[in-house]
Amino acid sequence: MINGAAGIMFQEALAKARRMAPLSVHDLLALLRAQDQEAEMLFALADEMRAAFFGNEVHLRGIIEFSNYCVQNCLYCGLRRGNTELSRYRMDKEELMEVSRQAAALGFKTLVLQSGEDPRCTGAVLAEIISGIKKELDVAVTLSVGERSRADYAAFKEAGADRYLLKHETADPVLFRRLRPGATLSDRLRKLWWLKELGYQTGAGNMIGLPGQTLESIALDLILMRQVGADMAGIGPFIPHARTPLKNCRGGDFAFTLKVLAAARLALPGVHLPATTAMDAVRKDGRKKALRCGANVVMLNVTPVHYRRRYCIYPVRAVMDKEPEEQLNTFQAVLAEQGKKAGTGYGHALRLAAGNLVIARALSPWQSSPVE
Ligand code: 5AD
Ligand code: SF4
Repeated sequence: MINGAAGIMFQEALAKARRMAPLSVHDLLALLRAQDQEAEMLFALADEMRAAFFGNEVHLRGIIEFSNYCVQNCLYCGLRRGNTELSRYRMDKEELMEVSRQAAALGFKTLVLQSGEDPRCTGAVLAEIISGIKKELDVAVTLSVGERSRADYAAFKEAGADRYLLKHETADPVLFRRLRPGATLSDRLRKLWWLKELGYQTGAGNMIGLPGQTLESIALDLILMRQVGADMAGIGPFIPHARTPLKNCRGGDFAFTLKVLAAARLALPGVHLPATTAMDAVRKDGRKKALRCGANVVMLNVTPVHYRRRYCIYPVRAVMDKEPEEQLNTFQAVLAEQGKKAGTGYGHALRLAAGNLVIARALSPWQSSPVE
C-alpha cells in the first residue's frame, strides 16, 4: 500500500466513491494511479457498486455487424477508407432481418446494429430495417452507425430504435482531431446531445492507451461521460491494427484498462458498462475479469462468421470463429461461476428500467454501509 500523500488521496477518493459523491478529476487520477492492494480495493468497490445497482444480473446483447464500408479514415481503425485491402460487404435488408431473427430466437433481448459510416446505407433504408425488426421481434434495438444527420437520428428513433452508441473516443480535442482527420470532438458531442434530446438511451465511451493520451485526459473522459448523461460507457484498450498508420504504436495495457473500468463504475454508478471484446483481444479471459471489476454487460457477436473476419476494426482472435450458441454457452458458464445470471429483460438504462424505485433500492443499503 502506498502511504503518504498519494495514499491519502486514494483513500479519500475511494471514500467519496462509496458515498456516491461526484468524483473530481483529482479523485479520478488518484483512483487511476492505484497499485497493488489499492487496485484490489478499487476493483472490490467497483464490484460492490455494480451489485448494488444490478444485483447478479448481467445483460447479454447480440451484435450484428451489417456493413464494413466506412467513409471515415480514423488512424486507429481497420475499417478506415484508406485500408484498400479490406474486402467490403453490406448485408441487404432481408439478410439483416434473417440474422436478427436468429439472434432473437437465441433469446437476445437487445440487438446492436453496428456498421462503419456507410452512406449507401441511407437513413430511409436503415429506418425501414429498424421498424421491420421492431414490428416482428421482441427486442430492444441499439444503433452504432456513427455520425449521421439529426434527421437520420430522428427517423431511426421514430422507427423504434431505443439506444445509440456514439463513443466520444477521447476527451482530448487535439488528440481527437489528430486521430480522426476532418472530425472534431465538439461536433461529436453535439451529436451526443441530439441523441439525448431525441430520447435515445445514449452510449459514449473511449479507448485506453491511444498514442499521446494522458492520464488526465482519461480522467476527463469519465467526467465528460457524466456531463453528457451517458447511459452506457464503452471502454476498451486501443489495439494496433497492421493496416493502419498506428500499426507500430503500443496498445493499451490490460491491467490499466481494468482500473479505468472500475473508476468508470464509481464515477458513473448506474451506467451500463460492457466488458468489451477488446478486453479479450489483449488478455485471455479479459472480459471475464472485467465482469469482476465493475462491468455488467457483454456483447456477443452474432454476425455470420464469414463476414466477421472482414469486420476487423482491430485484430481479435478470441471470438472470430465462435457461433453465437457457443459464445452463449461460454458466458452462461462464466456467469454461473461468478454467481451471476443472464438478465431476462431488455436491460434498458437504469433510469428507464424502473425509474426511481431501482435507484432508491440501490441507494438505501449503500448509504447505510459504514464509511471508513
Ligand atoms: N483498437 C480498439 N478499439 C478500436 N476502435 C476502433 N479501432 C480500434 C482499435 N484499433 C473502437 C472505437 C470505435 C469502435 C467501433 O471501435 O472506439 O468507436
Ligand atoms: Fe469508420 Fe468507426 Fe472505424 Fe472510424 S472507428 S474508421 S468511423 S468504423
